[in-house]
Amino acid sequence: MKIHPSILSADFANLETELQRISNADMAHVDVMDNHFVPNLTFGPPVVERIKAVSPVPIDAHLMIADADRNAPVYAEMGCESVTFHLEAAAAPVRLARELRRLGAQASVAIKPGTPVEPLIDLLGEFDQVLIMTVEPGFGGQKFLDVCLPKVKRLRAAISEQNMKVNIQVDGGISASTLDRAVEAGANVFVAGSAVYGSDNPAATIDELRAQALAHV
Ligand code: DX5
Ligand code: ZN
Repeated sequence: MKIHPSILSADFANLETELQRISNADMAHVDVMDNHFVPNLTFGPPVVERIKAVSPVPIDAHLMIADADRNAPVYAEMGCESVTFHLEAAAAPVRLARELRRLGAQASVAIKPGTPVEPLIDLLGEFDQVLIMTVEPGFGGQKFLDVCLPKVKRLRAAISEQNMKVNIQVDGGISASTLDRAVEAGANVFVAGSAVYGSDNPAATIDELRAQALAHV
């Protein structure tokens, strides 16, 4: 059970301090948006490289960017420990996942709420993680979409059936009040932006969310 706070809800003018506040996280979730794949813009390689340099925890780069085949490998090259690209933005997801692993990163693939999970079922050996989005990607603070949970369930069943070790990450609307449903469906990596950075004590919130998830094991 891992908690990855999303720095999308952090103060962008003080990223180093904001990263220090989540030093008990399993990884820092870094949302890269290009105003093309999603209708919002955050930052790109030069800023993520600096985030990586000062972060006390490993980097989980969530790339909401077009042409992932061309644009994702640079994040593995700069040392991000996990690189997630969107299936909808990749022309050759297997080739890209192999390239990310070759560059030393964990390979992770994300799907939006409207994208079926079934095309990934026969490709599980290519990925270290599948991210099932539980909001439409683009913004923090949106409402958790329960309609995405059956995909988490089917994916967990397929992973168990194939005896694989693939993480299932959920991202969007995760808080103390939605976490249990995601855990019960089979997720084991939880991204939380507003729930962590909106709290008075982000580190305590991380510990609380992790303990809440572990209570199911
Ligand atoms: C949304 C991003 C999320 C976002 C989650 O597109 O991928 O990582 O920061 O924010 P919350 O936890 O507030 O829904
Ligand atoms: Zn994200």
